[in-house]
Amino acid sequence: MKFFIDTANLAQIKEAHELGVLDGVTTNPSLMAKEGITGHENIISHYKAICGITDGDVSAEVIATTFDEMVAEGEALAKLHERIVVKLPMIKDGVRAIKYFTDKGIKTNCTLVFSAGQALLAAKAGATYVSPFIGRLDDISTDGLQLIEDIRLIYDNYGYKTQVLAASVRHPMHIVNCAKLGADVITAPLGAITALLKHPLTDNGLAQFLADHAKAASK
Ligand code: G3P
Repeated sequence: MKFFIDTANLAQIKEAHELGVLDGVTTNPSLMAKEGITGHENIISHYKAICGITDGDVSAEVIATTFDEMVAEGEALAKLHERIVVKLPMIKDGVRAIKYFTDKGIKTNCTLVFSAGQALLAAKAGATYVSPFIGRLDDISTDGLQLIEDIRLIYDNYGYKTQVLAASVRHPMHIVNCAKLGADVITAPLGAITALLKHPLTDNGLAQFLADHAKAASK
């Protein structure tokens, strides 16, 4: 399973990259705004900076919501770097735009997916990635992980190549459960990824090993 980091924070992207587990980055307009990245030129140079840190795919989301504007914006984003993936919303014009970019050999990530039917449409249009938002489904008392299971089943039934990119991941057990269900990719905040490291028995065991070593060495 690939690990993407879901942030526009360069320090966090660098930290995940240096940990050696980073396969790519996803961003969205809210995450860019959170880092104070506004204005066309700043946004463009920020995407370039992200591409300079990771060796993997970098999802850059369009702001446009009509087909012609999505195509223009997406083409400009795709020209920034060979690893830019054009991120498009699951709306009618977004599906059309996914098909357009697929036919041109440009990678896409279909975002804001909340149902299996939407994921089926994204795959039909040839999306490289589909992003079901599991945390936001959990937020409204719906089982986000069930959606991952449903999409996996449907894609496997027909051999769709679209990669299931579990998004809106909030905690380490989301990551573990996505792995159990066969998600191709998770995208998560740095905290959810590093939380996978933690186990009290690891910390206690290491402390004991070091104490025993020091005791033996002092004899
Ligand atoms: O990748 C989508 C993700 O950024 C949404 O996460 O936590 O805002 O629901 P969240």
